[in-house]
Amino acid sequence: MAFERVGVVGLGTMGAGIAEVFARAGLRVIGVEADAEALARGRGHLERSTGKAVDKGKLAPGQRDEILGRITLTTSREDLRDVDLVVEAIPEILDYKISLFKDLDRICEPGTVMATNTSSLSVTAIAAATGRPGRVVGMHFFNPAPVMKLVEVVGTVVTEPGVVADVTALAGRLGKTAVAVGDRAGFVVNRLLLPYLNHAAALMELGVAGRDDIDAAMRLGVGLPMGPFALLDLIGLDTAYEVMGVLFDETRDRRHAPSPLLRELVTAGLLGRKSGRGFYGESSESGESGAYGGAPHREQVKPRLGTFKVVGYEDEGDGLAERLRAAGFKASEDPDVVLCLADRPVIEHAVRLPDPARMVGVHLVGEQVAELASTALTSEHAATAARDLMKIVGLTPVPCKDRAGFVVDALLFPYLNDAVRMYDAGYASIEDIDAAMRLGCGYPAGPFEMLESFGLARVRDGLRALYTEYREPAFAPAPLLDQLVTADLSEFPRR
Ligand code: 3HC
Repeated sequence: MAFERVGVVGLGTMGAGIAEVFARAGLRVIGVEADAEALARGRGHLERSTGKAVDKGKLAPGQRDEILGRITLTTSREDLRDVDLVVEAIPEILDYKISLFKDLDRICEPGTVMATNTSSLSVTAIAAATGRPGRVVGMHFFNPAPVMKLVEVVGTVVTEPGVVADVTALAGRLGKTAVAVGDRAGFVVNRLLLPYLNHAAALMELGVAGRDDIDAAMRLGVGLPMGPFALLDLIGLDTAYEVMGVLFDETRDRRHAPSPLLRELVTAGLLGRKSGRGFYGESSESGESGAYGGAPHREQVKPRLGTFKVVGYEDEGDGLAERLRAAGFKASEDPDVVLCLADRPVIEHAVRLPDPARMVGVHLVGEQVAELASTALTSEHAATAARDLMKIVGLTPVPCKDRAGFVVDALLFPYLNDAVRMYDAGYASIEDIDAAMRLGCGYPAGPFEMLESFGLARVRDGLRALYTEYREPAFAPAPLLDQLVTADLSEFPRR
């Protein structure tokens, strides 16, 4: 089936983005909002987004006019009677969606395909509320819709053969890659992404590290396009909160229970970019007007950047010591700071020193980031000296507490473990999971690509350490990962 006329209901950030994507591909679009005020906001999204493209020289003004000219805006759902496809992008509340789909079912021709952009709700429940369950699918875009290349196409047990294929072909026409998935809360991407974002909020609440430091670690250390708090602001804290709630209802996994921090911010109306303020403020990612702004208070101690000692991991330790010497610092047997690159917990190494206050744990992440773990005994002087030393050798310091996995491994490894469990449960292939995270979230590599490049044993051992410390059942290594390490395999078998 060819789709030429499409309706989009709900012109918030996602809906307006979806309407733009269709219009850019040459389809005629009818955009529907509830009232004139919401419609004006939707028009504003469309004009700003295409206007930015003109300013950047990505679109000629004439092309922009053509794109906008293909979009008709209305407050009447009845105008959707002739469309071939309608995509819903209203708030993530099942009752609203069901009531909308019942109405669309009445208005649209029997052959019209009806798609929901739900992030997590049951497509089957929405389909079953209509008189055409076979022609209802999920068509899940990613924010910002004009940029992210993924569409998750969700079929249910009652979807007619051919509908998923038609919608998949349409995604290709839009310049997107479709991944076909079954109807499970969160599908592929949100099921892997949202627990990680929630976990970042939990680490901040536990005081393991601050907002800016966690974001910097994930961006500069792992190469993600955004840190978790900047991404939560982009997604919308209300949306993230709703999605977490749906995941929790399905899984009863306490990692999926929305962080109290999210609830607090949502209740306060700090929803992220859409409300101008969330974890960050309006002006910039590092603006102080957001919640939990800036780094945690640090006593200003004037460092005596005199001497250091590096202990642990030979190659990495030697490399760091060499960089410090090259920058003019002296290694010493009576150092100001002892930099410990060794197995964690750092405190176990610190208590063996005559002066444990001088020890700071170091974990180098990629080429740019040094996580610096202070123990309960580390002095402010040593912590500050370690930070300054790292800056001088060109590394971004990420101060954190001495907890298993510090920041990066604590956030990344459970996410990788979830991907292994998802694959092992037969929900999606390795290729689809990797593609979904690369194209849906702009990750530099998918979880299996990351696992194989880090080394399966390293991730398995890191998960064991996390499990030992936090006793969180989901941190226990997935049996498949454990078995591959036991079998001395370095790659996942592609089935
Ligand atoms: N609309 C249209 N285009 C946009 C845009 C928007 N809202 N925001 C950014 N762009 C375009 C820019 O114009 C630019 O285009 P160009 O390369 O052709 O000049 C390009 O995107 C890159 O933008 P910037 O240079 O301004 O900024 P960045 O390089 O920092 O990229 C980003 C911004 C694309 C948002 C990038 O940071 C990113 O990929 N972040 C991850 C986003 C993500 O994970 N999304 C998925 C969230 S989960 C989800 O949506 C599911 C839901 O169900 C919860």
